[in-house]
Amino acid sequence: MDFMIESMAQYRSEYEKSVKDPEGFWAGIAEKYQWQQKWDKVLEWDFEKPDVKWFINGKLNITENCLDRHLKQRGNKLALIWEPNDPKERFVRYTYRELHEQVCKYANVLKRNGAQKGDRIAIYMPMVPELTVAVLACARIGAIHSVVFAGFSAGALADRINDASAKLVLTSDGLYRGTKEIPVKRVVDEALKECTSVERVIVTERTQWAVNMEEGRDVWLHDELTEVSADCPAEPMDAEDMLFILYTSGSTGKPKGVVHTCGGYMVYAGYSFKNVFQYRESDVYWCTADVGWITGHTYIIYGPLLNGATTMMFEGVPTYPSPGRFWQVCDKHGVTQFYTAPTAIRALMAAGDDHVLSYSLDSLKVLGSVGEPINEEAWSWYHINVGKEKSPIVDTWWQTETGGIMISGIGSASPMKPAHAGYPLPGIQPVLLDADGNEITEHDVEGYLCIKYPWPSILRTTYGDHERCRVVYFSHYKGYYFTGDGAKRDKDGMYRIIGRVDDVINVSGHRFGTAEIEDAINTNKKVAESAVVGYPHEIKGQAIYAYIILKDEPDNEDNLRSEIINSVVEHIGKIAKPEIIQFVPGLPKTRSGKIMRRILRKIAEGDTSNLGDTSTLLDPEVVEVITERAKQLKG
Ligand code: WTA
Repeated sequence: MDFMIESMAQYRSEYEKSVKDPEGFWAGIAEKYQWQQKWDKVLEWDFEKPDVKWFINGKLNITENCLDRHLKQRGNKLALIWEPNDPKERFVRYTYRELHEQVCKYANVLKRNGAQKGDRIAIYMPMVPELTVAVLACARIGAIHSVVFAGFSAGALADRINDASAKLVLTSDGLYRGTKEIPVKRVVDEALKECTSVERVIVTERTQWAVNMEEGRDVWLHDELTEVSADCPAEPMDAEDMLFILYTSGSTGKPKGVVHTCGGYMVYAGYSFKNVFQYRESDVYWCTADVGWITGHTYIIYGPLLNGATTMMFEGVPTYPSPGRFWQVCDKHGVTQFYTAPTAIRALMAAGDDHVLSYSLDSLKVLGSVGEPINEEAWSWYHINVGKEKSPIVDTWWQTETGGIMISGIGSASPMKPAHAGYPLPGIQPVLLDADGNEITEHDVEGYLCIKYPWPSILRTTYGDHERCRVVYFSHYKGYYFTGDGAKRDKDGMYRIIGRVDDVINVSGHRFGTAEIEDAINTNKKVAESAVVGYPHEIKGQAIYAYIILKDEPDNEDNLRSEIINSVVEHIGKIAKPEIIQFVPGLPKTRSGKIMRRILRKIAEGDTSNLGDTSTLLDPEVVEVITERAKQLKG
């Protein structure tokens, strides 16, 4: 698809077009895709309801655009390269023709097992090729996929299955991740004790461990595949039919199911991929994210395949078997675009330069960063040691809710500045608002980051609870989509994301709501009350600090700490473990009972020089007690 921007002048003119005539602009992009029926109208929108529709009455199937459309020209081109956890195991490659065939077969397996258009299908799988095939197979038949990261606990998986009333679960026997071995199927069995909607579980064999197969419910993928044909016509989908649900954390309550629809998501995923990474026909593109997060959805699967790209999928972790693994894999497969997270870069930087300097990394052309602000030190290390000062770094800001990259460099076409995401992509209209909701129009300012005009892949709703979508994203500032992030705009108009301004903690690029973690902590019977905040962490970006009031004096503080950590692991997963747990006699609260998180954050950061006026608190003395103990704990 020829919509690549190659210079700053071209960017400016495209951007101007996209703001002056958004509908004309996006119609021009959308025409490059394959539609079964063209749309009647490009856009209808109302941010107050909210109600956004793109490409109204258009009919399509995203898998025809990802697969069928390429068969003639690129049938023998590699679509997917899979690199296993263990470098001694053989990697796997699929051409477009082979991937198409696998997807059609898997789609027929889904149908054979009762799946129909509109059904929700939960996917809880390791990073194996069958995961990508499973996602596309759902899309092929119009079932709505809900991928759950296979590091979440049984409890978290059950919540997500139940919220969406999923009919099928797609999983595997086990999983390898670095030195870890996780009994995935056992987690699913545990979760399903709490789920009544699930009729079938389809199990991919990965580890060949013995697993429990429940008669009438569980089937092996390899058995099912022998029963189906490789012919599966793509289900005609309305542009506004749901494509997938992806759960993400917010500041209140349980994770919410962000909903994306077929037409707009497709148009934006393909467009943003091509431009940000400047993808060219013979490139080999690698995004190291897990498909369990939005980055994996849009930039491992859909974005690359929509462009007929070769996309790589990696089962392992950056440090296994050594901190040189990423670079070894880049050299091995001739990777041209490499997209990862700042937390990985910081971890590898800490492991020492030798691990990276022993690889040539000659093939690399564009480097990407996503998930959290990249600090200048990590940026420079990435630029010098990985990019050899010749590859641009695109610092891509976006969210699960935005579906695709919003503010970012465009390959080498745009200027770059360490720690700055840069300029908005064409079609994206960001604004900074002050606390009263007024637009700040000058440069060299800071404010709440909002978007004032819809783009094709904006979330449409939160599954089963539209009101929540309205309240969380569209009610803070009337007429705007509120991102939850604070940002600066410098004198050149480039954006720098500061971080969340709500109660969301970003640990190693993964979002957790404070309430979600507190709920998990509070399930421990010895806990009376808790408050968690994020604080800066050298590798993780942010880590979790928990202040906990106990009902009684504990016999052994350390044992209780492990118990509490276990509650979090059980309810959410290991990735949400608090780094520091401090038992406190009370919490700083206003007279109306609201916890002053600002004060707790400062204490966790170790910055107690300016806690503000604490005299109006319900119990001002408690601040001093907490501060003293915090110093000991962190020291
Ligand atoms: C943060 C991940 C700074 C931000 C794609 C956002 C970033 C949240 C960047 C979304 C970046 C993501 N610079 N911060 N380049 N990218 N963030 O939904 O706080 O997992 O709101 O989507 O991550 O996280 P999510």
